[in-house]
Amino acid sequence: MNIRIFNSQEDLNEAAADLIGGLVLRNPSAVLGLATGGTPVGIYASLVRRCAAGIVRFRDVTTFNLDEYVGLPKNHPESYFSYMRKHLFDAVDARPERCHLPDGSAADIAAECARYDGLLAQAGRIDLQLLGIGHNGHIGFNEPDHALLSGTHVVELKPSTREANARFFDSPEQVPTHAITMGIGSILKAQSILLVARGADKAEIMQRALYGPITTDCPASLLQTHADLHVYVDTAAGRLLNV
Ligand code: PGA
Repeated sequence: MNIRIFNSQEDLNEAAADLIGGLVLRNPSAVLGLATGGTPVGIYASLVRRCAAGIVRFRDVTTFNLDEYVGLPKNHPESYFSYMRKHLFDAVDARPERCHLPDGSAADIAAECARYDGLLAQAGRIDLQLLGIGHNGHIGFNEPDHALLSGTHVVELKPSTREANARFFDSPEQVPTHAITMGIGSILKAQSILLVARGADKAEIMQRALYGPITTDCPASLLQTHADLHVYVDTAAGRLLNV
């Protein structure tokens, strides 16, 4: 496990963009696993700047996002599809047909989960998976539970997750109750994983995830079993980590 603690958000963003951009430079047709939420925004901004400067190109990159809300139309401002277009896809030279998210507005959600797993299988494997972490240890929308599923599936969001994400919506009731998420098996199959956390409110869950028991009660704890895990945190989120 490679843990790095950064004094500034800028340094964290640049280091994460170095890891992702460096991979794309070495392998222009890399497969990236991408995340949404507040955590990756600055990382994507750095990648956008690098692309504008001609340092990195996304033309041949394939991307898979971790998750999407169920029931929001794709073009809803808070859909993860809209988020990705705004923060990355529309601002770089990515090709839309290579940028995949689950479709939370699909009429047949089970078929949509199977379609997504089919695309993942076709891609072979994710070279680098970017992850944030929920306060309850969720990764993607794999919420704590007595068992976790390997493949793409529908989850009911925990009240704490809906509360945390209410900041993006006009009112808490507007946060969807369900989401489609890539499963833990797909996440752990990635060649490399970059887990990023920021802020004092993530310090305790980061300690549990990295040093606590490996348990489905804290889905991120399964990352301890991964052979190439990179953890980038700011000083506040890394307060309880040993480096
Ligand atoms: P955040 O969400 O980046 O908005 O903190 C992380 C997550 O819930 O996985």
